[in-house]
Amino acid sequence: MPVTLNSIAQQGENGKAMMPIMQGVGRAATEIAYLLRGAVFRGALGAAGGENVQGEQQQKLDVLSDEIFLSEMRSTGFVCAVGSEEQEDLQVIEEYADADFLVLVDPLDGSSNLDVDGPVGTIFSVVRRKTLKDQRPTEADTLQAGRNVIAAGYVLYGPATMLVCSVGQGVHGFTYNPNSARFELSHPDMRIPEKGGYYSVNEANADKWLDQLAEKFAHMKRETGLGMRYVGSMVADMHRTLLKGGVFLYPADWKNPNGKLRLLYEAIPMGFLVEQAGGKAMSRGCSVLDIEPEGLHQRVPVYLGSSSAVDMLV
Ligand code: AHG
Ligand code: MN
Ligand code: MN
Repeated sequence: MPVTLNSIAQQGENGKAMMPIMQGVGRAATEIAYLLRGAVFRGALGAAGGENVQGEQQQKLDVLSDEIFLSEMRSTGFVCAVGSEEQEDLQVIEEYADADFLVLVDPLDGSSNLDVDGPVGTIFSVVRRKTLKDQRPTEADTLQAGRNVIAAGYVLYGPATMLVCSVGQGVHGFTYNPNSARFELSHPDMRIPEKGGYYSVNEANADKWLDQLAEKFAHMKRETGLGMRYVGSMVADMHRTLLKGGVFLYPADWKNPNGKLRLLYEAIPMGFLVEQAGGKAMSRGCSVLDIEPEGLHQRVPVYLGSSSAVDMLV
């Protein structure tokens, strides 16, 4: 009998709520995968015409994926609000404003790959509210260090659609089975290899890096002999890093002193998974999970991967 999402979601003391939430993520993933497959025929590729709070051009599929994800979180009945890359402010789910959990989400990660049919993903994390149930959830409820994360994961829209997640008891990979129309466990207890794999960084920015990173990076390449892979979608680059080992980094530079990736819905969920898989997740000399967030869309530099490779860079 295949192992399904529920078997993982029900682990730990929050299982009763994590099951519907994980199922909701699974439904959103299935809908977004279907949307992506036929997007070109629906005129859904290309820019939406607006910018998100990051000042980045929103793709139509960013907006549509965000709508799908919010709708599926609403349908769980256990989520009081969603903080999304695509929404400047916290999206309170009015019908369930007294629910216990909030979800942070990057609905579509790696959007620059869409018009070249490259891999993209969805990244999410779940936290328990800090405000009392009879109060209205606020952005402050999302500003929690990664140590407080209840569950986190990502969906990878590749040749197969995978959902990789953790509720704090290891990292488990599920693959969507078109025959049974559900996610089934395909990669139990994923552990990041300590040796081997690839380094993964946009080296076009190397001339702008700070703090002797260029020297450390050259040393790491010499010492490890790692190959290089860079897809330009954090989900795709991190999935390979978890499976093969190595290091993914998006450093700060003089043009982007906080780097590019967002703490709450990219760095923390990925850092949670990396540490659960036995790797290291660093930013500015400490674990990503120990950073106290100051804003919903705050950016941080990240170094994620096999401990030995990360240690050479931070
Ligand atoms: P998003 O599409 O959600 O904005 O994320 C894109 C991010 C991340 O997926 C990837 O690692 C990084 O942007 C790539 O940035 P560069 O194109 O600057 O290398
Ligand atoms: Mn992203
Ligand atoms: Mn995105």
